[in-house]
Parts: sequence; structure tokens; C-alpha cells
Amino acid sequence: MKGARANIVDAIGNTPIVKLNKVTAHVKSDIFVKLEYLNPGGSMKDRVALNIIKDAERRGLLGPGSTIIEATSGNTGAGLALVGAIRGYKCIFVMPDKMSTEKILTLRAFGAKVVICPTAVEPEDPRSYYEVTKRLVKETPNSFHSNQYYNPANPEAHYLSTAPELWEQTGGEIDVFCAGMGTGGTISGCGRYFKEQKPGFQVVGVDPIGSLYYEYVKTGRLTKPFSYYVEGIGEDFLPGTMNLKIIDQIVRVDDKECFLMTRELVRQEGIFCGGSSGAAVAGAIRYAEQLGDVKKNIVVLLPDSAQKYLSKIFDDEWMRSNGFLEEEDPLGTVRDLLGAKRQRPIVSAHKGDSLKSVIGLMKEHGISQIPVTESGRLSGLVSELDLLNYLLQNPGKMDTQVDQLVEADYATVTPQTKIKLLKTIFNDAKLVCVLEKDDLVGVISKIDLIEYLASKRA
Ligand SMILES: Cc1ncc(COP(=O)(O)O)c(C=O)c1O
Repeated sequence: MKGARANIVDAIGNTPIVKLNKVTAHVKSDIFVKLEYLNPGGSMKDRVALNIIKDAERRGLLGPGSTIIEATSGNTGAGLALVGAIRGYKCIFVMPDKMSTEKILTLRAFGAKVVICPTAVEPEDPRSYYEVTKRLVKETPNSFHSNQYYNPANPEAHYLSTAPELWEQTGGEIDVFCAGMGTGGTISGCGRYFKEQKPGFQVVGVDPIGSLYYEYVKTGRLTKPFSYYVEGIGEDFLPGTMNLKIIDQIVRVDDKECFLMTRELVRQEGIFCGGSSGAAVAGAIRYAEQLGDVKKNIVVLLPDSAQKYLSKIFDDEWMRSNGFLEEEDPLGTVRDLLGAKRQRPIVSAHKGDSLKSVIGLMKEHGISQIPVTESGRLSGLVSELDLLNYLLQNPGKMDTQVDQLVEADYATVTPQTKIKLLKTIFNDAKLVCVLEKDDLVGVISKIDLIEYLASKRA
């Protein structure tokens, strides 16, 4: 019939771009959002799924009776299941346990098998969702691992579909593209396309606090990741699909601001989007605030819909019990802790310092690990154990520069980070470094946290 699509796969793409008005009223730049949640599977991952499947068919990796296996936080699964339904493939999806019930039920509704794995384990752990996926691929006959974290067809989907569509819709009148960073497919694929179209085009990546991208981009170090609530963005490893070189600026956001922004987008702008969309818009607004009076056209990609988070971000009870609605947390924030220990200045070594002077500093202040900075910016950490190991191999070499011993066994937070979160962070990291606009403004050890908590009135 005239006007109908041949099947649901043909309905992927051509999503609208809408201007934000209220939440952006205070910035000079215009911020527009691309509503990828209006894709038939509910997210931009429909485009990725379609491109991955077409590419695998072309290469003879997928055929009649095949089973597609993927580690997915939900959206790629919905896309694969939808395209798979039309092309006749079975699907098995492996998901981390922090994902919303709606996402799990959605995948089951498409007829897929869903396997849930614990989030709080190392990626190498046999229970992690990466390892479980590998095992299932080995054990399932005629299976195809779509592998969105390493499959070049993922960023290519955005290079061939999302970005050219966006460019055409706007007549190329975009200066800045802003997106959350998960597998990196969106930012790498779109970023590459836009940069090929316009010299000086700016690509802004948004990363949640707890993920390792931000520190890696700033310092080249893989610091300790820790868990956070916003779904779909941030990673605890570097996926092969992420091209960090394409990013001009990276903005860090916390769960609370992501969720509050998501609620504002729905309530004030009628944009029914999910948590990573709130994150991306919060990041874009931060970027626009930094531009001051300079006016740019910024387009933000909104990956998925509010529908999947109704029992979380849009449930006041859930928001309150996780401390995202209260004005104040009785334990306070990192800023309060730093205030309480203000009498003690930050003890840090500098790049180029000799081991002799670093050991002297550590002895003088009675500390077992020390941050190393360069022009006020954190470049790493040195601990007693690093010094011990080095001196065992090189006894007496006290004029060695500290730079070669610097390691990344720390986590970074901002002054707004809740004290409650430090407990989880210290499970993995030796030390917490507090950064404000990339400058090191404080250092917190376990004993600092103990002292702070002990000083609270019962
Ligand atoms: C809800 C949501 N937002 C953002 C992203 C990140 O996009 P990308 O993987 O292209 O970096 C994902 C990826 O799974 C997602 O599911």
C-alpha cells in the first residue's frame, strides 16, 4: 500500500531534531536534541543493530538458523531482536544486574533469552557479563557474537546513518555535537563524519563520574572505576569502538544532575527521554555555559526513552532512597570533608621530583601514598609499596625522578560527590583525589574518612 514501509526495519531512522527552550534559557548558544528514542526499538541502537547484522550477513557470519549473542545494557538487544525478528535470527542477551526491569522485560517480550550477571565484579571475573558472553558464544552452535564493543560496524552505523541524516536535516548548520560515551559508537562515528564536513567542528563527550574515560582523556591513566546509576554511558575498560582522539572536550556529570535534568526535560520540554539523555543535555549545557557570550548551534543526541526508567528516575521513592531528591545528605559531601580537614594543606609531589624528596615529604607528613602533580593538575599517585619495589630492585637510587613510579591506583571525584559514595570507592581505590575544573583541590585517604565520620554527632 502507498505510504507504508515494507517492514519495521524500514522505519529505523529519520528521527526529529527539536530545539530546547526552557532548560537552556540561561545560555547564549542554541541547544537542539535529536530524538533517537523515536526509533522503532526505542533507541539509536536500532541503527547499530541493523548495520551489524547487514555487515555480518555480507561477510557470511550470519545465516539461516543463526543465534545472535550480545553483552548489552538493553538497547542494542532491542535493536538486534527487532531486526532479528524480521530476518529470522534467535537472540541471547547478557546483561549486568543494575539494569532496569523494563529493559529486561522488553528483551524477553521480543522473544530473546536474557542472562543476568553481577555488576560488582572485575571484567576478567568468570561471572562478569563480558566473560559469560564469551562462554555462551563458544557453547552455542551457529552463533554470532555481534560484539558491539569491538565491532567496527557499530561506529560505522552512526557514520553512515545518524550523522549524515543529522547533517542533512540541519543543512550543516551545526557547530558542536554532544553525546554520552558508552561503547563510543555514537561519538566516534558521528564525530568522524562531522569533522570531515566542517573544519573546526567541535565534538563534546559526556562521561559519568565513576567511569574511566574522563581521567584517561585528561591524564592518559586508567584510574579505578566505581559504580554509578546512570545506564548506557561510561565504561570500566577501553572498548575497541571508542576513538578518543575525535573528542575535543570531555565533560563529567554525576548521577544526581543526570536524573534531575532527565526529569526536567520530560516535565518542562515534553521530551520523554532516559537518563543518559539527561546526562548528555547536562553536559551540553555545561559546555554552553563555558562558551559564555559565544553563540553556537549545539546538537545533543538523546539515545533512549523515559519508558525504560519509569520505576527508577521517574519514581520519587527510588530517587529519594538513593539520595537524588533530598536537598542535603546528612553525611554531607566531599566539600564538607575537605572543609573539616582544611587546617592540613594538600601534600603532593611534583613531576620531576627526586625519590629522596618524595620520601622525605611522606616521612614528614606520615603518609603512605602521595599524589604527583604537574602545574596543579594530577598526574598520578606514588605509594610506599611502589617505592619499596623500586628500591629493592635499585637500592640507593634516590636521585631517580618520581615520574617513572607514578601509578593510577586512585579514583577521582568532585567536591559535590556524596560522602556515602566514598565507601564503595575505597573498596577498590587506595586514595581519592578531588578535582575541581581539573585542578587537584584535595586528597582523601581512608583514615580521613574515618576521622570525618567519627567527628559527626551521633
Ligand atoms: C541509554 C544509552 N545511552 C547511551 C549509550 C552510549 O552510546 P554508545 O555506545 O554509542 O557510546 C548507550 C549505549 O549502550 C545507551 O544504551
